Amino acid sequence: MADEMNRRNGNSNQITRDYLDSLLIETRYMNAGVASTEFELFGETFDTPIMTAALSHLNHWMYEGAMTDIARGAKEVGAVMWMGMEDEASVEACAATDAKCIEIIKPYADRNILYNKIRHAEQNGLFAIGIDIDHPFTKDGTPDIVEGYVMKPLKTKELAEIKKMTKLPVIIKGVLSVYDAREAVKGGADAIVLSHHNNRIEYAVPPLMALPDIAHAVKGKCKIFVDCEIATGMDAFKAIALGADAVCIGRPLMGALKQNKAEAVAEYLKKATEELRYAMDCTGCRDLSAVEPEIIKKRAF
Ligand SMILES: Cc1cc2nc3c(=O)[nH]c(=O)nc-3n(C[C@H](O)[C@H](O)[C@H](O)COP(=O)(O)O)c2cc1C
Repeated sequence: MADEMNRRNGNSNQITRDYLDSLLIETRYMNAGVASTEFELFGETFDTPIMTAALSHLNHWMYEGAMTDIARGAKEVGAVMWMGMEDEASVEACAATDAKCIEIIKPYADRNILYNKIRHAEQNGLFAIGIDIDHPFTKDGTPDIVEGYVMKPLKTKELAEIKKMTKLPVIIKGVLSVYDAREAVKGGADAIVLSHHNNRIEYAVPPLMALPDIAHAVKGKCKIFVDCEIATGMDAFKAIALGADAVCIGRPLMGALKQNKAEAVAEYLKKATEELRYAMDCTGCRDLSAVEPEIIKKRAF
């Protein structure tokens, strides 16, 4: 019974949601104006800092073409599209939509698989690649095996080698500590994603709780993104205020896909972007750089 209670209480998605909802917004209407959500990333300009999260296998679990529908939806609203562990055909199909696509590659123990996937991403004109560092272990102390592939923790010096072998921006996903953020920067990462990867560990620190310290340590040295339980423009606003450059939305887009496919993904991202802009309008922030930590107040968590 006690064990069950702990399990329920330790759900990182729930803790993350509760933390997001404990953050409140201070308004500033005097001298305010309509804001721009324009977002610069790796030399390109986007209409929104709200991106799709690195989902995967949806062609199998939902319907054939689900991943390309995400890419189409993202492209339609000027957002960046992310994907996770996809086969080559799916990566190619997403790239063919002309969306700006980021592929998050698993930390394969056989590093040749990782390197080949990076080469494949380059050949297909992907926008950036990344590695989800939070996928190396199972709870019984053995290396994680995903779809038959053994995983292994990433070393800082391996990241530095990857940086040398590709011109694509390299992202480290699954950062929740200043330690990992600093190691990512030391290895040359262009960006990090604060994430517990949909509850991969119970009692994970909510990304927005970790964010201020991480931003203090590495802001300006790499881009900072956040995912996990980001569902609205208000959530995105809070993340950006606390130091994120942009956010990713994952599971809510799967709900949108069920309804109306690419159009619903576009609508979801558009609505979230409008909510973000409205929050910026009401807090006197004309652009994303003006969205500052002082705007956020915290109630008891
Ligand atoms: C169906 C599904 C597949 C996912 N596949 C991957 C993956 O292959 N690589 C990865 O880094 N993250 C993967 N994730 C994690 C998401 O990128 C994201 O970190 C997580 O879902 C939290 O965001 P959310 O709360 O908005 O869903 C997956 C999540 C879901 C729900």
